[in-house]
Amino acid sequence: MHKLNLCLQCVNSKFCRHDLKSCETEEFVVVKWRRFLRRLLIGLLKLTDEKARERKKRKRVSRPETGVSPWLIGVAIFLIIFWILLVEYGFSWKNFLGLLLFIGTIVVLLSIYTKRYISDTGDRNSWAIIGLIAVVMALIIEVIRVTPELSSYLVPVAAAGMLITILINSHLAMLVVLLLSIIVALINRFDFNLFFFALVGGIAGIYSSLDVRHRRDLVRAGLYVSGANMVIILTISLMNQRSLSQLSENFLWGIGNGFLSVILTMGILPYLEELFSITTNIKLLELSDFNQPLLKRLMVDAPGTYHHSIIVGNLVENASELIGANSLLARVGAYYHDIGKLKNPQYFAENQEGLLSKHDDLTPSMSSLILVSHVKEGVDLAKEYKLQRPIINIIEQHHGTSLIHYFYHKALEENKASNVGEEKYRYPGPKPRTKEAAIVMLADAVEATSRTVEDPSYERLRNMVDKMINDKFIDGQLNDCNITLDNLHRIAESFAHTLTGVYHPRVEYPERE
Ligand SMILES: [Fe+2]
Ligand SMILES: [Fe+2]
Repeated sequence: MHKLNLCLQCVNSKFCRHDLKSCETEEFVVVKWRRFLRRLLIGLLKLTDEKARERKKRKRVSRPETGVSPWLIGVAIFLIIFWILLVEYGFSWKNFLGLLLFIGTIVVLLSIYTKRYISDTGDRNSWAIIGLIAVVMALIIEVIRVTPELSSYLVPVAAAGMLITILINSHLAMLVVLLLSIIVALINRFDFNLFFFALVGGIAGIYSSLDVRHRRDLVRAGLYVSGANMVIILTISLMNQRSLSQLSENFLWGIGNGFLSVILTMGILPYLEELFSITTNIKLLELSDFNQPLLKRLMVDAPGTYHHSIIVGNLVENASELIGANSLLARVGAYYHDIGKLKNPQYFAENQEGLLSKHDDLTPSMSSLILVSHVKEGVDLAKEYKLQRPIINIIEQHHGTSLIHYFYHKALEENKASNVGEEKYRYPGPKPRTKEAAIVMLADAVEATSRTVEDPSYERLRNMVDKMINDKFIDGQLNDCNITLDNLHRIAESFAHTLTGVYHPRVEYPERE
């Protein structure tokens, strides 16, 4: 009964030995304050913890791989360009304030535009690349300006446009070209002619490098830039009533500008690719060359795997184009997906010579271990040969966590009494995380099974393809990539068509008697 009269607020406290009336004693007041403070502290801790976690999450999303904040890079670009302009205009407080206001306004406007209208603001290292290119270009513009023998028509803004288009994207390239064109005009005392010239040349550079696949395509891009420069120089000369000799001299500077832009792009591009580990289309095409050392080794030491990889490459290229994935990356990923088999090529069915299998003398678990190891071996070999990260990802993910059915069922047959752990017969993963890796996984499975289809007509191949894709889907192998059911349907159709071409019926020619 006494318990019921206790103060309910402090019933669990070690101080709680009071009934309701005596609860307003000094001890109870202390307890009440302690509880209040404790709740307040816990609340604050939770709040700051959540905020810190959110901040961390935000930082992880926006911070490029260089570990330098894009804001820091922005401020660095601003300061360097501001310094160059201040040197050009002279050190006075009026120039200082005027330039500060002018560049500040431009930077704010460009930032607002980027945030509002450009969804793809680049990913890894993009801002570091932009910063580096913008500063180098600003320095080149200043050097050309202070060298009397050189014309301002030589300013290679198009090189910045080409480099950023190839390395990041054309939207950001456009913004940088605009910024550099403004700087060209500023350094040349608000010369609108030069602003117009740099802007058009830069746009020509961006447009002509949109589909660059070979380094030699850059020469074509340089010709476009030279052509655009000549048109603008003609326009400026006509409107400013320049003489014919001036026009022809400026024409030469304009053509030189196109070539200088190409030379700079070709010279700087490999270093930026290497420095920031960027996989450009140019790099991918170079990797798809069959004279690459790893592909040559595959051809000599594992000819079956080499042939399989080429067919997988054809399968994925057609399918990727249909669903808007990067077909070049998928094809190159397919060429390299099984390089791990180079360590023990004879343990893989496609390289087996004769009827005897190397697995005949091995236990199912040992066979499974050898098969699984080709993924890790492949990743190690790719790193050794300095292949790009997206290709290493495809190698790592091309089997996901699939089950090696053959050896799992063999183990089940051999160990009827005891339990056979399924996980021992599964690849370690991860599952495909991109559309390209998923297509390589599906094409790999489909190609291997297609060899077993008897009398391979389109219908039979289509049934097999549907079954293989269904199996992977039901097994959850496609759970981690953004592939849709419509995509899978298109992929199946494309695989069946390509395979029909590979296994088309041959016409039997009559033998000569
Ligand atoms: Fe494989
Ligand atoms: Fe394969």
